Amino acid sequence: MVERAFSVEDTLLRGAGATPMLELQSVEKRFDLSAPLLRRLVSGEGRRVLRAVDGVSLAIPRGTTLALVGESGSGKSTLARLAVGLHRAEAGRVLFDGLALDEVLRNPAQRRRLQMIFQDPYASLNPRWRAGAIIAEPLRLYRLCANRAALRERVAELLAAVGLAAEDAEKYPHEFSGGQRQRISIARALASNPDFLVCDEPTSALDVSVQAQIINLMGRLQRELGLTYLFISHNLAVVRQVSDRVGVVYGGRLVELAEAEELFATPRHPYTAALLAALPDPHRPGAERQIVGGEMVNPLAPPEGCGFHPRCPLATPVCRRERPALRAVRGGLVACHAAA
Ligand SMILES: Nc1ncnc2c1ncn2[C@@H]1O[C@H](COP(=O)(O)OP(=O)(O)O)[C@@H](O)[C@H]1O
Ligand code: SF4
Ligand SMILES: [Mg+2]
Repeated sequence: MVERAFSVEDTLLRGAGATPMLELQSVEKRFDLSAPLLRRLVSGEGRRVLRAVDGVSLAIPRGTTLALVGESGSGKSTLARLAVGLHRAEAGRVLFDGLALDEVLRNPAQRRRLQMIFQDPYASLNPRWRAGAIIAEPLRLYRLCANRAALRERVAELLAAVGLAAEDAEKYPHEFSGGQRQRISIARALASNPDFLVCDEPTSALDVSVQAQIINLMGRLQRELGLTYLFISHNLAVVRQVSDRVGVVYGGRLVELAEAEELFATPRHPYTAALLAALPDPHRPGAERQIVGGEMVNPLAPPEGCGFHPRCPLATPVCRRERPALRAVRGGLVACHAAA
């Protein structure tokens, strides 16, 4: 391929120009599910290693949102956890603002810059703590307030930023609705003045109307605070609304990466096309949805070649033999032998 000053790969994988907020370089995460050695010796069974993330590279320019989409089990949450250091990669590198993530996590002044929001705010909020104490925890941890009065004031400010009242600081998580609890998670995440938020299915447990409110809130906070988001959702309608760029994950691999508008207008990978075909048609709300046929790849025994070939309508013999590399095509990057 011809080298250009800023190739599509540079822009999408490494983030041409300024240092990206987050960069993954060929990261891999495996889970060893093997039985204990003695049992394996007796039964003769081999090791069982699950490749949850298998060589993913991408970059997220600052102030933008990259969404990751893919079916359940494709490796999205594992990627999210790798990005904030809740998992360590077995291979590859994770860079945060140009620094090795390990270095960032050891330094509180850097560590506070990345935060994560989870799907289930009820599980991630301590039920025995009042909302005020939950939000104040990072303020105390990173010593961001000089005294109690400043702490109380900052908690009230954070509650206001997420659309809650100062009095809500006195309530316990169970006294809030699901949407309000997610607002508290967001307030806590914002407490340390982060630059980067990893949001793993932040609205998936919420009613549709509440989802929209949380999405709007996150959009406003991004604009006001200049935040960078890694946003994970299996809901493509939500992704379309929030993302600048979209990465499609299948069987632990990135199979397509493109600007959101481009990807929704012209999906290049057959799997992306199948996911989009499963979107409800806004012009025919009642119409039956087409779903991706066949079984999701078994990560303990992925097929040879392209992981999608058992389900792909375009598969040819080469797809069963050769794993397609992620490469630049017009409009983005795609890992498919058939993509032009
Ligand atoms: N802690 C873990 N131990 C073992 N397997 C795991 C663990 N976390 C995830 N996995 C497996 O890794 C694969 C990817 O999971 P995950 O990242 O949660 O996918 P997604 O978020 O896209 O649904 C799945 O097969 C899942 O079962
Ligand atoms: S490489 Fe082959 S099997 Fe894989 S998505 Fe492309 S056409 Fe389908
Ligand atoms: Mg997940």
